Amino acid sequence: MAEARPRVWVSQPLFEDLIDRLREHFQVETTVEVTRHAPAAITAKLAQVEGALVTLNERIGPDQLRGAGRLRAVANLGVGHNNLDLDALAAAGVVATNTPDVLTETTADFGFALLLATARRITESERWLREGRWRQWSFADMLGADVHGSTLGILGMGRIGQGIARRASGFDMRVRYHNRSRLPSAVEAAHGASYAGFEELLAGADHLVVVVPYSAATHHLLDARALGLMKPTATLVNIARGGIVDEQAMARALADGRLAAAGLDVFEGEPEVAPALLALRNVVLTPHIASASLATRRAMVALAVDNLIAALGQGPDAGAPPNRIGG
Ligand code: DGY
Repeated sequence: MAEARPRVWVSQPLFEDLIDRLREHFQVETTVEVTRHAPAAITAKLAQVEGALVTLNERIGPDQLRGAGRLRAVANLGVGHNNLDLDALAAAGVVATNTPDVLTETTADFGFALLLATARRITESERWLREGRWRQWSFADMLGADVHGSTLGILGMGRIGQGIARRASGFDMRVRYHNRSRLPSAVEAAHGASYAGFEELLAGADHLVVVVPYSAATHHLLDARALGLMKPTATLVNIARGGIVDEQAMARALADGRLAAAGLDVFEGEPEVAPALLALRNVVLTPHIASASLATRRAMVALAVDNLIAALGQGPDAGAPPNRIGG
């Protein structure tokens, strides 16, 4: 009798033509509709499969791994992987992977677009126009902050941060960055970027883009005290993870004029957005779409599929998935 193929769970509807590649190797259980899986439902699924392809919505920690004796690999769809407890996965002997590189340029495009939209009040002015409030061209309507020639602070100078720095050079910006470790001088020079201490970065930035990975160490890195160091005229853009910024402190700063505007693609309790943020006019809010171009989302799925096939010992990279993370 032929040996049963390993079982794989795909947690959300993805591109079926790419998922077909998993079907060449595995028995695949897909998810037909976008689903908010309860933690216990994830536990139940993982108990039945050798591999899982999951998104940032699915949190996998020790509770989800209890009973997952057959599980050998989890492929995460995204470069960020704070939804995965990597130590718990390693302790359970489960290989974890993510999808870096393929989303860098698309995400950097979006970070820059959000910066422009926020500083130049694009969505706010569109809402105002649609509400029929534009009576006559006026010299003082919707005055924003210049992006060109200003100082850009980049918090987290990994691949996406460097992509944003490259775009900033076309706007004649002075680029400063802060990172856990300073980049080699050749990389700094190639990106026209100079290193700054954390507080120095916040104090000097006209616009600050947050691209640092989310972890226990960066939880509420931008708290009330840190936000208080920023210029009252500054723009804050977050395309990393909501939990890096204390949203309540940020909302208070935006409401009181201690921070000019914020562009937010990520939220601490997403998809719920704090009412204090929804109530503000000087924020641009988008639903975590920085990597959402068709080509890039397809490339992310293709890479996650490759990773899972390899992590489960199949395909050309059998046993050596290209994007292994953690232990
Ligand atoms: C990531 O890759 O981490 C994004 O947030 C989801 O595309």
